[in-house]
Amino acid sequence: MPTPSALACVRCATRFPVDSYAQDCPACRAKGAPANLTVTYNGTPGAGASRDDIRRNRGSMWRWDAFLHARAEDAVTLGEGNTPLLPAPALGLGDVWIKDESRNPTWSFKDRLGSGALTMAKKFGAKVIASSSSGNAGAAAAAYAAKAGIPCVVFTFVGSAGPLVLQMRAYGAMVVKVTDKADRWRLQSLGVQEFGWYPTSPFFGPVVGSNPYGMEGYKTIAYEVAEAFDWQPPDWCVLPVCYGDALYGMWKGFEDLKALGWIDRVPRFVAAEVSGSLTQGMATGEPMPPVVERNAPSIATSIGAAQATVQGLDVLRRSKGLAVTIGDDDLRRWVVTLAAKEGIWPEASSAAPFAAIERLRADGTIKPHERCVARLTAAGLKDPGPIEQALPEPPLVTGGLPELLVGLKNAYGFVP
Ligand SMILES: Cc1ncc(COP(=O)(O)O)c(C=O)c1O
Ligand SMILES: [Zn+2]
Repeated sequence: MPTPSALACVRCATRFPVDSYAQDCPACRAKGAPANLTVTYNGTPGAGASRDDIRRNRGSMWRWDAFLHARAEDAVTLGEGNTPLLPAPALGLGDVWIKDESRNPTWSFKDRLGSGALTMAKKFGAKVIASSSSGNAGAAAAAYAAKAGIPCVVFTFVGSAGPLVLQMRAYGAMVVKVTDKADRWRLQSLGVQEFGWYPTSPFFGPVVGSNPYGMEGYKTIAYEVAEAFDWQPPDWCVLPVCYGDALYGMWKGFEDLKALGWIDRVPRFVAAEVSGSLTQGMATGEPMPPVVERNAPSIATSIGAAQATVQGLDVLRRSKGLAVTIGDDDLRRWVVTLAAKEGIWPEASSAAPFAAIERLRADGTIKPHERCVARLTAAGLKDPGPIEQALPEPPLVTGGLPELLVGLKNAYGFVP
């Protein structure tokens, strides 16, 4: 296992101590391009590791501990990772594979973040975990804090989806609601500064991204994808993006593999977003994507923030990728299509990559022979409300076969 040597700014590479809570580079913030910190190591991640040994081990994402900041035996784990990579021929989008992250312990990709961050929280002796989250990150923080035996405070927003907030509460987190989203960060910052609470989520603006050790967990999505394709990476990785945490983490994972010579190129990345911050950011030469407020709320509440990050924009530029802005109609249509044709019911945000691939295949950006991996980030049951409206109301049938046939025909157009 390589040992973390420093937390380094993703933009200017300035180094900070490994236990720094700053989560931010002061120099880049002063220049108007606030940038997250990322873990750097003594030694090359993965050096000396055996691909066969890693392949045989199916315990959790920590089978990749040769690339990570802690040993598998010291990790706070719920068996996250090793999620299926499934072909999706019925979608009519060509060579598309679904990396189904809804199969993680709390039904979202944020478990990799939770496991990566809580492992370090425990190592550093954190007394309290703090997260600000509309849902998935808070649910993961709560579950992994429970596993680690550390109390957890989650700041959430009054408009957050009911099942997601219930999930945090079920894992024993102390959930606090606020009416103004800005209060979440204000209160969490006070907890961090005054009491040394350990933050797993962003807690100040303009946002830079999440806890650097949590972000390391996202590298394992790239390792799993590369391994599943026998070290021939796909041409494109298409992700639902909010701050661009997983975008950065996956990209870093592919870069690790390339540095080792296990793969010969890094895929191009597409950010499927709802605000348009990265879409506009790509059109400028600026390092920081702009704030883009929508006229109406999106059904993809998990990725609803109005501004992405320096790290997300940077990965799109470095990978020769692009951003696509997706609206509610497309999200609803793709949730229903995925569930009905592939048997996978995603949260609304996770439908965004499919709408993006559809658009980019149609305009020729993604060529017909090119392979795409769509990252499906969370399960539909977490926020079922918006999709219910897109489905036919089940008929109430009283009586016999004739009434059943009428019900099936009227509700579903089905004639046996
Ligand atoms: C379901 C889901 N998908 C995607 C994202 C995007 O997160 P990020 O771009 O910060 O990795 C989030 C997070 O907030 C989420 O909850
Ligand atoms: Zn910097």
